[in-house]
Amino acid sequence: MGHPNLYHCLNVHQFDRSFVEENCALADKVRDIAKSKTGAEYLASLLNHKRAMLYFVQPSTRTFLSFYSSCQVLGIKCAEVRDTKTSSEIKGESEEDTIRTFSSYVDLIIMRHPKENFADKIAASLDSTGRRVPIINAGSGKDQHPTQALLDIYTLQRSFRHRGGIDGKKIAMVGDLRRGRTCRSLSLLLSMFDDVKLYFVAPREFQMTNDILKLLNASETKYEITDDLNKVIPEVDAVYVTRLQDEWDTTEGGALNYDVSRYSINSVNLRMLKPDAVILHPLPRREEIALEVDADPRAVYWRQVRNGMWSRVALITQIFGCSKNINDYYINNY
Ligand code: CP
Repeated sequence: MGHPNLYHCLNVHQFDRSFVEENCALADKVRDIAKSKTGAEYLASLLNHKRAMLYFVQPSTRTFLSFYSSCQVLGIKCAEVRDTKTSSEIKGESEEDTIRTFSSYVDLIIMRHPKENFADKIAASLDSTGRRVPIINAGSGKDQHPTQALLDIYTLQRSFRHRGGIDGKKIAMVGDLRRGRTCRSLSLLLSMFDDVKLYFVAPREFQMTNDILKLLNASETKYEITDDLNKVIPEVDAVYVTRLQDEWDTTEGGALNYDVSRYSINSVNLRMLKPDAVILHPLPRREEIALEVDADPRAVYWRQVRNGMWSRVALITQIFGCSKNINDYYINNY
């Protein structure tokens, strides 16, 4: 048994602030524990009786590799399907039967899929079979990327550790917000913090959608909608930049474009950013963050990549109910 509200990890609506903060605290502890050989061996003994399937039928570098690495940190053995052409789906087997088959072999299924709500549907379907296995949504369609939001919060929390945390911060989200599942999930997690203000910076056709804005209104989260990045940059404590999500053009029946240079961070507008602000990006990036920005101490997107692994280790321990072991080990050894 894990967190009382978490068996499957399907969307950010399942998280509350205490869960998110506990995940950050656990991530800090596991990364400390993993620094020593004894600590790393302890972590690798925690779940070495478990097996996981990574079913990633939509491209991924970071999420796939960080989950794979997280499983290794905890001793979980992994199998993978990364292309439906290599599974019996190519012979006409349904997605439901495919995943039901996985559930006969493994104790955890981590999945990335191009369809919205796919993880929810599969979790409900497996629950009804009596062969219940936790499902983690590693990105579903244009809709949700809950574990990215957890690692983004972890990165923000570490960035603002000596500045009063995330409460009261002003955060801009920039780029293709309409089709960017990372921004959608992160906006909802940020709405759990006190007095946060969000700035959605995008051309009108790529703006944050009404379903998310309604939820922000309901939680009385302040936000501003604009297409003027340079006006917003001097105001904010964090800029979360995203790329044009044009992989969806084919399913949406045509290409939509915008002038990416207007929604980019470069050496010129970097000068307008506060000295203690931070720049995030879920990655992969294209030209929306100039390469020279990497050398700026405010750029934390490569730290996000690393934080993602620790945040996912923490999440898996919460799902399998062994976060207490980590807390106890930490108290006894540090
Ligand atoms: N941020 C993210 O989801 O990256 P990948 O698509 O490489 O997994």
